[in-house]
Amino acid sequence: MPGGGRVNRTRRGMIIAMDGPAGVGKSTVGGLVAKSLGCKFINTGEMYRALTWKALEEGVDLDDDRAVLDLAKRLKWEFKPVEEGGTTLKTFLDGQGVTLQIREERVSVNSSRVAANPGVRRFLSKLQRELGRDGNIVMEGRDITTHVFPDADAKIYLDASPEERASRRYRQLKSAGQDADKGAILAAILKRDLSDLKREINPLKQAPGALVIDSTHLTMHQVADKIIRHVRREARDAR
Ligand code: DC
Repeated sequence: MPGGGRVNRTRRGMIIAMDGPAGVGKSTVGGLVAKSLGCKFINTGEMYRALTWKALEEGVDLDDDRAVLDLAKRLKWEFKPVEEGGTTLKTFLDGQGVTLQIREERVSVNSSRVAANPGVRRFLSKLQRELGRDGNIVMEGRDITTHVFPDADAKIYLDASPEERASRRYRQLKSAGQDADKGAILAAILKRDLSDLKREINPLKQAPGALVIDSTHLTMHQVADKIIRHVRREARDAR
C-alpha cells in the first residue's frame, strides 16, 4: 500500500498528519497545505500549551499528574477559527480564546511537563481523533503520524537542523523588533528536542511510511508544494 499505513476508508475526507521537532515550520507549512487543499488545520501543541497555561493560572502543581488531568477534564474544550470562514482551528477553554496566553515564556518552558503526563496524552489524543473523525484536516504535532492517526491518508515528518531552526527563530524575533540571542535560542531548541525525543510515552519519531522532508535548505512554500504533490499522489494511488 502506498505510504505503508493502514488507510482508513470509512472517513469522508482526508487526514494529513504531520510531525517534527520544535521550530521546524510545521504550522506555517500546515496552514499553506490546508489552504491549498481546502482543509481545516490544527496545531496540537496548542492544546498542550493551553492546558499548561490554565494549570499555571489556577496554581495547579504541574507535577501532580492526577490534578492536571482532572483540570483537563473539567474544562470545556472547543476548536474553531478565530475569524469567519477561517480554516485554522484555535483552542478555546471554557469559551475563552488563549492564542496569546499560550505563547508566554512560562508556558513554553513548562509545556513539556504537561506533555509527559500519560493521562493528559490519552485525553488530548481522544479529542484529536474526534476532531479528525470526518477527515478534511491537516493536523500537526509530535505523535500524530505515530499514535493519533497512524492510518492517516498522508503522513509527513518535517525536519531541519537545530542550527537552521534556531536561525529562523532568531530572524523571526529580530524582524518583529525583539531582542534575541542566537546561542540561547539554539540551547532552548536542543532542550526541547531532548524532551520530545526521550519522552516515555509517544515520543517524537518517524512513522513507518511517512514522507520525510528535510527543510533545512527549502522555503516554506517549497515544502508545502512537496507535501501537496505527495498528498495528491497518495489520493490517486488509493483510488
Ligand atoms: O509544538 P509546541 O512546541 O508548541 O508544543 C508544545 C508542547 O507540547 C511541547 O512540549 C511538545 C508537546 N506536544 C506533544 O507532546 N505532542 C503533540 N502532538 C504536540 C505537542
